[in-house]
Formats: sequence, C-alpha cells, structure tokens
Amino acid sequence: MNGDWSHRIVVPGRVNLIGEHIDYAGLSVLPMAIDRRLTLDLRPRSDGLVRIVNAQVELGERGVRLSDPGVALPAGDWGNYVRAAAIGLAEAGLPAGGFDGRLTTDLPPAAGLSSSSALVVASALGMMVAAETELPDALTLAAILARAEGHTGTRGGGMDQAAILAGRRGMAVRIDFDPLAATPIPIPDGWSFIVGHSLEQAEKSGTVQATYNARRGEVENALRVAVAAIPGTPNDATYAELLEEHSAAELTRDAAEFDAPLGSRFRHVVSEADRVRAATECLRSNDVAGFGRLMLASHASLCDEFEVSTASLDALVGEACEGGALGARLTGAGLGGCVVVLVRTVDAPVVMRHLAGTFYASRGVVPTRDHLFLASPAGGARVESSARGPTVC
Ligand code: GLA
Repeated sequence: MNGDWSHRIVVPGRVNLIGEHIDYAGLSVLPMAIDRRLTLDLRPRSDGLVRIVNAQVELGERGVRLSDPGVALPAGDWGNYVRAAAIGLAEAGLPAGGFDGRLTTDLPPAAGLSSSSALVVASALGMMVAAETELPDALTLAAILARAEGHTGTRGGGMDQAAILAGRRGMAVRIDFDPLAATPIPIPDGWSFIVGHSLEQAEKSGTVQATYNARRGEVENALRVAVAAIPGTPNDATYAELLEEHSAAELTRDAAEFDAPLGSRFRHVVSEADRVRAATECLRSNDVAGFGRLMLASHASLCDEFEVSTASLDALVGEACEGGALGARLTGAGLGGCVVVLVRTVDAPVVMRHLAGTFYASRGVVPTRDHLFLASPAGGARVESSARGPTVC
C-alpha cells in the first residue's frame, strides 16, 4: 500500500454463470466473484466529507457530505453510487466517516460485470472503515447495500452485492433469497470461463435502466396473473412457492394463456429457476457438457422470452460455440455488455483465438484485456489497513 493511504479496499466484480433476471423474483442464482477488481485507497478525514478521485482522469473527482448527501447527479454519473452508499448506511443506522480516496480499477465499466455495485460496496466499506466501526457480516451488508443501490434509480435485485461480498476463491456461489444465503460450490478442475465484451456498453442509465425496471415490473405483474389463474394458489404466493407446488413445465404451459408480454416473461423466470437448479447439480457432479447446454438454453430464453439480448451478444455466443465452447450466454442485465463462455481449460486459447479472428476481427477490433479475458473465481471484498492485516468481510 502506498504510504499516503492508511487503508485499501479491494472489491471484485462478478460474472453470473446462470440465473439471470430472477434474483428480484426471489429465486436462486449462481454467480462467481472474479479476479477483476476495483481498488479504493483512502485516508480518513474528520469533517464528514467523502472525496474520491478517479484514477481515470477524465472521470474526475466526486464528493458527498455524509450529513447531507444532496440531490442525485445526472443518471449514470459515478458519483451517484458513492451517494447511494452514504444514504444506504444512514438508512441502516450504520456509522459512516469521511475520507479522501483514490479509485483504480481493471474491471471494465458498463459491461454487466457489476462495476456499479462494486463501487457502492467499496464506498460503503470506506465510510465504515473511516468511522472505525465494526463491519457487519457479508450478507447483512449485501442486503443493506442492495437497498442502497436503489437510490441510483435501478430497481436491482440482490445478486451482485451478495456475489461481491461473499465470493470465494475457486468457487461459484449459489445465492438464495428470503432469507439471503450464500453457498460456495467448487468449480471443478478443467473448467474455465471466458468473458467476451459485445463492444456495446450496458450503461445502467437511460434506456437500459428503463428497460431493466420495466422488466422487473413485468415479472411482478406476471406473478399476479399466475396467482389468479392457477386454482388454489394463495394471493400472496411467491415465485418460489409456485415452484414448490408445480413443476416449471406445468407453469410454462399455464403461461400460454397470459397476455403478451407477461407470458414470455413468466416462462423465462420459471424455466431459468429450473436451469439454476440443474446447473448446480452439473457443477457438483462435474458435468461440464450439461452445464454448457443449460447456459445456451438460458441465453435463448433471455433472447426470445425476456428480450434483453442484442445481435452482438447473440453473435458472440454463436462464435464461441463455433470455436469449441461448451456453452455461452449473456451475463448481467443484458442489452449490451458481456457474454460468459464455458470451455474446457485446454480449449481456452483456441476459443479465444477464434473469437478474436471472427467476432472482433469482423468489427475491426483487436481485443484488449478489457474485451476478452479468462475470469477466475475470486474471493469477496476485503479491507487492508497499514495497521492491521487484511479483513475479509
Ligand atoms: C443486474 C442487477 C442484478 C440482476 C441482474 C440480472 O446485474 O443488478 O440484481 O437482476 O442485472 O440478472
């Protein structure tokens, strides 16, 4: 750590392996924290002001006064994520202190790899470290910060914060909701995940934010329609309860009667929940081909039923398979951003060369390490201080 700073907060991004757009329906998902991170070096200050300088000079400096976080900046401005952390901690009654900080990252922004949630998590950890308060456990903090991130205008679920805070080296983490739980599952030797950027930004502002919030509304409305349509279902039944009583195949048949687009959204949610269950089994039994098929089915459903894919994401998935991948799918909210590709480790160089020579070459791009990289499962967020050793949240 540079001598000017007393603390360093290191926060990973995540790729979601399977279980997309179902966390806000309370259904389990299977992400992993990755070895790409955001690093916040900081020095506490005593006047309750948080000032963070972004090492990417063009992104400048942002500040927030903890006693009065003020109004939001324009949608998409990175300062809104710092502000959201301050509001979230205050709402949860957690102490927060001011600091001067410097932010560096090798996590591509607006790529569906949770750079926004990583910034909320890093800011909040910085504020708590500066206040010299004891950190809550990872999942308690994840729930608080999932609510906090709502102050940026995106009605997100709780997957990203939980994956980032509860990540384990070498493992995927199944996240369950109501109650929030994290179960690490080892990634077998010989499996590798490649991340490929579609070259389209998935900024969580503007149309992407509007579409995301609209999809969440549709998923909630589809549940109401299902509850009314399926005899004997209590009015307040959740998706998880429906899936306890009925198979995904039965529910999918029922959805044929729902008005568009609610039937499609409902089919995606219940079938994706089923794929997460099956994929978890594949991971546990080292069935790499089975996991790959489920990823492809997930992508098809996100494209046809949930309508959050793009031509570039579809092309990347197609080329990955042509090049020898076992499966691939968009990861994160979609509408741009990245795909995650499953390969046998020995095949990784060939698949990456194939993507470089096809998808990227045809778009005149020589892929950099921000476009195409191997993502390894990493540990969760941690705090290092010059006085103490590292603290894992
Ligand atoms: C974003 C949200 C998550 C989740 C995914 C889609 O990453 O922050 O909560 O809904 O989209 O699965």
